[in-house]
Amino acid sequence: MASFKSSSSTITTFKFHLGAFLLLVGVASAQLASNFYGTSCPSVLSVIKSAVNSALRGPSWQVPLGRRDSATAGSVSDVNSNIPSPALNVSGLISAFSNKGFTAKEMVALSGSHTIGQARCTTFLTRINSETNIDSSFKTSTQAQCQNTNNFVPLDVTSPTSFDSAYYRNLLNQKGLLHSDQQLFSGGSTDAQVRAYSSNQGAFRADFANAMKKMGNLSPLTGTNGQIRTNCRKAN
Ligand code: HEM
Repeated sequence: MASFKSSSSTITTFKFHLGAFLLLVGVASAQLASNFYGTSCPSVLSVIKSAVNSALRGPSWQVPLGRRDSATAGSVSDVNSNIPSPALNVSGLISAFSNKGFTAKEMVALSGSHTIGQARCTTFLTRINSETNIDSSFKTSTQAQCQNTNNFVPLDVTSPTSFDSAYYRNLLNQKGLLHSDQQLFSGGSTDAQVRAYSSNQGAFRADFANAMKKMGNLSPLTGTNGQIRTNCRKAN
């Protein structure tokens, strides 16, 4: 009996809570409406939609699929002879890309990928500390971020997470992070292209996409060449 009494009061308490809960849900849903901002802020949905769309927009291009993995690990000498160094001057950058079949214009467009990402202080501190073609406040703030030389700093100081043409405007303002970045606007043959991309984001994005497509076609392994790795990080 005692136990019946107690379960009966438990059921009563439960019903009460359920009733109170449903009442609250009723009140809450009465406060929600798809046109809640209909008069106070009628354009809110289109504003949010366009902000989200523009944040997600990376240029895009079709990637031909079917490429296979290398059967050998890359070597240090392969890397050093194929990957351009951040210590290169503009002529060295032009010839490094020309060795792979790219024009100087394509090299400038591809460098625009530094509109996102970061670099470790050790790769650019020599420029920041000793070059003269550098904005002084940019120099001071970058040095402050590099108290620890293992720190990373955004390659595009203005808008590090947007794929835009701020990278080129930074160069016009002597705010290139890497020596090789600032070399693209340093009184040489690529200045005009940097200027052009700085004020024409559409041209930059279109040229970037085409150059990326071209880069993706640099001697891929197909058919029976190479292998399909079982562990992506090492040859089978
Ligand atoms: C023009 C010659 C180039 C040089 C000298 C160069 C050099 C560098 C260096 C030194 C870093 C920093 C690496 C670190 O500190 O860990 C870096 C980062 C980066 N580079 Fe380049 N790069 C060049 C071209 C490119 C190209 C063509 C692309 C792609 C299309 C590219 C994409 C990136 C990205 C996305 C990062 C950031 C990586 C991250 O945040 O983890 N770079 N580059």
